[in-house]
Amino acid sequence: MKAAKVNSGEALLRAERDRLRAEISRHDTLYHQQDAPKISDAEFDKLRRKAEALEAKYPHFSDPDSDRVGAPPASGFGKVKHSQPMLSLSNAFDEEDVEEFSKRVRRFLGLSDDDVLELVAEPKIDGLSASLRYENRKFVLGATRGDGTVGENITENLKSIPDIPMTLPDNAPDIYEIRGEVYMRRDDFFSLNKRQEANGDKPFANPRNAAAGSLRQLDPRITASRPLRFFAYSSGELSAPIADTHQGFLDTLKEWEFSVNPLTRTCDAVVGLLESYHNIGSERATLPYDIDGVVYKVNRYDWQDRMGMVSRAPRWAIAHKFPAEQVETILKDISIQVGRTGALTPVAILEPITVGGVVVSRATLHNKDEITRKNVRAGDTVVIQRAGDVIPQIVRVVLEKRPANSTPFDFSTHCPECGSLAIQEDGEVVTRCTGGLICPAQAVERLKHFVSRSAFDIEGFGVKHIEAFWQDELVKSPADIFNLKDHASNLKKREGWGGQSVDNLLASIESRRAIPLGRFVYALGIRQIGQATARLLAHNYGTIDALIAAMTEATDIESDAYATLVNIDGVGPAAADDLTSFFNEPHNVKILNDLKNALTIKAFEQANADSVVSGKTVVFTGTLELMTRNEAKARAETLGAKVAGSVSKKTDYVIAGPGAGSKARKATELGITVLSEPEWLTLIGQEAG
Ligand code: IVH
Repeated sequence: MKAAKVNSGEALLRAERDRLRAEISRHDTLYHQQDAPKISDAEFDKLRRKAEALEAKYPHFSDPDSDRVGAPPASGFGKVKHSQPMLSLSNAFDEEDVEEFSKRVRRFLGLSDDDVLELVAEPKIDGLSASLRYENRKFVLGATRGDGTVGENITENLKSIPDIPMTLPDNAPDIYEIRGEVYMRRDDFFSLNKRQEANGDKPFANPRNAAAGSLRQLDPRITASRPLRFFAYSSGELSAPIADTHQGFLDTLKEWEFSVNPLTRTCDAVVGLLESYHNIGSERATLPYDIDGVVYKVNRYDWQDRMGMVSRAPRWAIAHKFPAEQVETILKDISIQVGRTGALTPVAILEPITVGGVVVSRATLHNKDEITRKNVRAGDTVVIQRAGDVIPQIVRVVLEKRPANSTPFDFSTHCPECGSLAIQEDGEVVTRCTGGLICPAQAVERLKHFVSRSAFDIEGFGVKHIEAFWQDELVKSPADIFNLKDHASNLKKREGWGGQSVDNLLASIESRRAIPLGRFVYALGIRQIGQATARLLAHNYGTIDALIAAMTEATDIESDAYATLVNIDGVGPAAADDLTSFFNEPHNVKILNDLKNALTIKAFEQANADSVVSGKTVVFTGTLELMTRNEAKARAETLGAKVAGSVSKKTDYVIAGPGAGSKARKATELGITVLSEPEWLTLIGQEAG
């Protein structure tokens, strides 16, 4: 069989090992020395695991140098087995559940009606839990909760949190583990997001995500730059007890200079707990941090010990959750926003109101059908909520408060920006403006996309510039950006525009005059063509001229070019339609030509040019047993292969699982190598199974 020839040599596997090592080392440098990771931590871990698997399978491949593969600190986090499991809490959703909890505890402990059951009520902080281990009064180990049994070693990261003492006082036991919640205050979260956005990084959805993202940084310096805090609330392993009660424990922790939540109260009956719940609830919106309920804990430790736990939650505690905060406000108006691809999105303009500590003045209504479904009208009183995430939702209309003269919203049949017809295509939820580039809203949105970070990445070219240049007719289409240098002296005369800032802007435009094909295609902002598809197209067509020629030819759906296009795994007929319409629209042809004249569009360069399957076209057929079809495809593409849907003369390998039929037969007829799934994995140097 042909495959034997290619999978024989260890040389190939060694080459793959070397390639992996080089890649790991490159990303290591990007991460640690340049603070500019190009792949996610998860992807990095995957690379490492691949390298390790290869070396585990062929130990004679390892040489001293390979010890560097996955060497700390880039190796991800080490695992920590918790000396005592980190538990979760069962939930109570209403007062009845709380009554029931108290009765359960009393029954379990066999308390009589005269016995007082003390419970501590403390806010449930919306962050993530961490365990801090002190040995001989020194902080030695910090871990995330993980699955409750095994967490990750984040010692270095926790050291940068000012609320966490590095030492305990002399009278503290030799071994003491303190547990609590790492969180971010809301004001700190907003400033962090501002910084993220200014740097072109993605903002976090809420303070909890921001805390989690900041804590799970492989580089502790990044964590140290994030405003994290810690509230202590329980303990793990200890060599000697420090208190008989939870309240006593919290008091001692305060003396040890830990932050303990100030709203904590000890109560001796359910009424007290519920009072605490309502008090804490009424302060919720004005607290500087997010909480999502109140936790009730049996105060006496001897009673806690007797009660133990059930299915990973203690019997002696319960979390009384808050409902998502809802408030009423007036919906003043519904306005329509026009997006880059012409999508018309209705937005509710609200009488500004505070929900969960944030002032809300707008909420998305998503699309036309949502307006009908929610039955909202201008002038309505609406209930809005902010549930976990920062983006507020309209829950419902308070119909009783609807003004008598209100009328249903007339979702315009025309674009509010350019007046072109707006249509909702069959089966689509979105209504779109058909104005294309004559629509100023679309043109401005497209320009924003064009200069954005994943596209041309023109530093310092902000929304402000785009809008101003558009108004002054300096930049009407993307190619105009590259002619701005001819207007330098004019630009410098503008009010508030220093000569230096104009020079900087023009310099950053110049620095982007050469662009890789994939980025270029993405920058065009063609509907349905995201970064991945743009890259696929670059990979398959290689150069801008080849791409334009193919797209022009592919307008004819009977053409070979069309067949090749839809045969790219990842480009369906719908995306193919959008592509061919884009490349054949006269406006766009002009823009493309202008851009080609102004720019150097670099031919696709294979990142994995040395992988054995780089540049090869492969087809998967039959049932794959060792991985899913998507995974197989992703792996092949990572190695530089093109994945096609059907077999042709251009196919290099067909990977046939059980049940492969006509495609495998056709391959044999055409003399194309047919590989089994394990043979394919060996070829690409990956573990089978
Ligand atoms: S006590 C053995 N107290 O809630 C008791 N947990 O749903 C374990 N949490 O994983 C937790 N504030 O991350 C406790 N005052 C508090 C808390 C709290 C927040 C979190 C913690 C835990 C989760 C359980």
